[in-house]
Amino acid sequence: MNTKQHFFPKMNSENIKFLDASILVEPGVFTPRAESEIFIPILKNYVKDNMNLLELGTGTGAISIAIALNFPNINITSVDKNIKAIECAKRNCKLNNVYNNISFLESDWFSNIRGRKFDLIISNPPYLSKMNFSKYRNLSDPKESLFAEDNGLFEIKSILDNCKDYARDGSTILLEHSHSQTLEIKEYTTNSSIRYLKTYHDNLGFNRISLFKKI
Ligand SMILES: C[S@@+](CC[C@H](N)C(=O)[O-])C[C@H]1O[C@@H](n2cnc3c(N)ncnc32)[C@H](O)[C@@H]1O
Repeated sequence: MNTKQHFFPKMNSENIKFLDASILVEPGVFTPRAESEIFIPILKNYVKDNMNLLELGTGTGAISIAIALNFPNINITSVDKNIKAIECAKRNCKLNNVYNNISFLESDWFSNIRGRKFDLIISNPPYLSKMNFSKYRNLSDPKESLFAEDNGLFEIKSILDNCKDYARDGSTILLEHSHSQTLEIKEYTTNSSIRYLKTYHDNLGFNRISLFKKI
């Protein structure tokens, strides 16, 4: 059976709330999930004025826009390889009146930001295992936003491998993942200049966002 037939692309735009932000979710773009809202309270521990923050895989821009609304004195660069996502994120910026401290650009992870350094790097990358494809077949999100090779860890490992070149010493890195991936992610960074520090729970008590520091 071809499981591709069971994916139902979103046909119409919808409006959702993501913390203080009003977010238009357009067809072909990932719908933000409530569990990602905890990026904002977690960031309160690490954000200082004038810091440069990078969001990898911004989708509708929901997380970056909520950050811009909560921390108006930082500079935000948000990338996605999906051009529909970048166009949607720019529209959401206008919708929420955040223009000054946020810029969106098309980039395959770090490909279009070479040479730049950031104080904070955050991402909710695709982390579902392709083995579980049929379990999620009713989701309307683009498959590229959901699934990754290597039991869902391929993109997370790619970000951890490459972010050391874009993080300043002492920079904070926050990555969302599935609760079952926590141990493997922690072990992956042993002997790396990206040091695992802790994992935060989501509102349901599941391990959801891991914190790393560039040493
Ligand atoms: C799980 S969605 C998260 C979107 C958004 N941050 C959120 O939480 O609502 C993952 C996003 O990563 C983007 N993405 C996947 N692979 C990428 C890559 N190689 N480079 C840049 N973005 C990528 C997808 O297009 C998608 O928008």
